[in-house]
Amino acid sequence: MLLDGLAPASIARAADALAAGELVAFPTETVYGLGARADDDAAVAKIFALKGRPAGHPLIVHVDGRAHADRFAAALPPLAERLIDAFWPGPLTVIVARASGVAGAAAAGQPTIGLRCPAHPVAHALLAAAAERGVAGVAAPSANRFGRVSATSAMHVIEEFGADATDLLVLDGGATRIGIESAIVDCSTDTPVLLRPGMLTREQIESAAGMPLAEPGIGAPRAPGTLAAHYAPRARLRIMESGMLRTALQVLGSDSLKLAVYSRSIPSGLAPGVVHRRMPARPEQAAHELFAVLRELDRHGVALIWVEEPPSGPEWEGVRDRLRRAAAAA
Ligand code: TXA
Ligand code: MG
Repeated sequence: MLLDGLAPASIARAADALAAGELVAFPTETVYGLGARADDDAAVAKIFALKGRPAGHPLIVHVDGRAHADRFAAALPPLAERLIDAFWPGPLTVIVARASGVAGAAAAGQPTIGLRCPAHPVAHALLAAAAERGVAGVAAPSANRFGRVSATSAMHVIEEFGADATDLLVLDGGATRIGIESAIVDCSTDTPVLLRPGMLTREQIESAAGMPLAEPGIGAPRAPGTLAAHYAPRARLRIMESGMLRTALQVLGSDSLKLAVYSRSIPSGLAPGVVHRRMPARPEQAAHELFAVLRELDRHGVALIWVEEPPSGPEWEGVRDRLRRAAAAA
């Protein structure tokens, strides 16, 4: 059921539902989350069931500020504190050692926990109202079926789960501003590791951390958002360098009925029947619309989506990452 996220009565109702162990979908500045109280393993199990998320993949716990983070973290190392000070509320998740006996199901049994304080008025209102009801944190993955494109609007959430969860409360906060998921930094060892890039650039994170980021290693904690194949539309997706894209379209001629193209340049002589969307020139705008565009192209029923490779700059890393994983899925 769709609720107006700006109405105080909706927030109260959603917070009551969370406190009672029910699921609530809510907007954040990155993507919509599918939330349950983090301290209730039975409530968290409902998230795994509805998403079809395999066991063993931990969830991020959303908190309304640093004070609530202390409930879930064994300790916040100075590195995590520096990042929290710099970026909360905002699109950054820190992985830290978990307080013992807390949020075991949300952490999928890992000794660590992912924590994030979102910067969205509806998420803030919900987390604050939940906290008043004794809920210190809300475990929430992106509100999409496992492996699929994240939801950046309330309608996307309904598309994903509406049929199976007609009573799911969905707080509508409009389209999300950022559009791709938070950057995840593992702060559980001495060296910060970027597990998932987001819209904060490496440079921004390194400058706040005061040290360079390391690449995820073999022993890095399991993270489905970091699986090679993820964020996938139904159509197959291929990334092409712009010259290649031009050549491929020429070769294809008019035999292109089941094709969509998402590119910064406008390819000349597009065959009729090819669905074309223009990728914005600015990375913030491209991230903002990325998942909505993939969903829209899917609705056209195309078999294949050709995406022109985004620029190589650091501010494009999050978009490149999501496209690469979407391309790996088919
Ligand atoms: O922007 C976001 O982060 C969104 C919004 C809703 O906050 N959430 C999100 O959640 O993207 P999800 O579950 O789709 O992705 C969470 C990622 C997964 O890759 C998960 O494995 C990783 O965070 N993660 C969570 N806890 C972890 C932990 N203790 N150790 C390693 N990775 C962890
Ligand atoms: Mg996800």
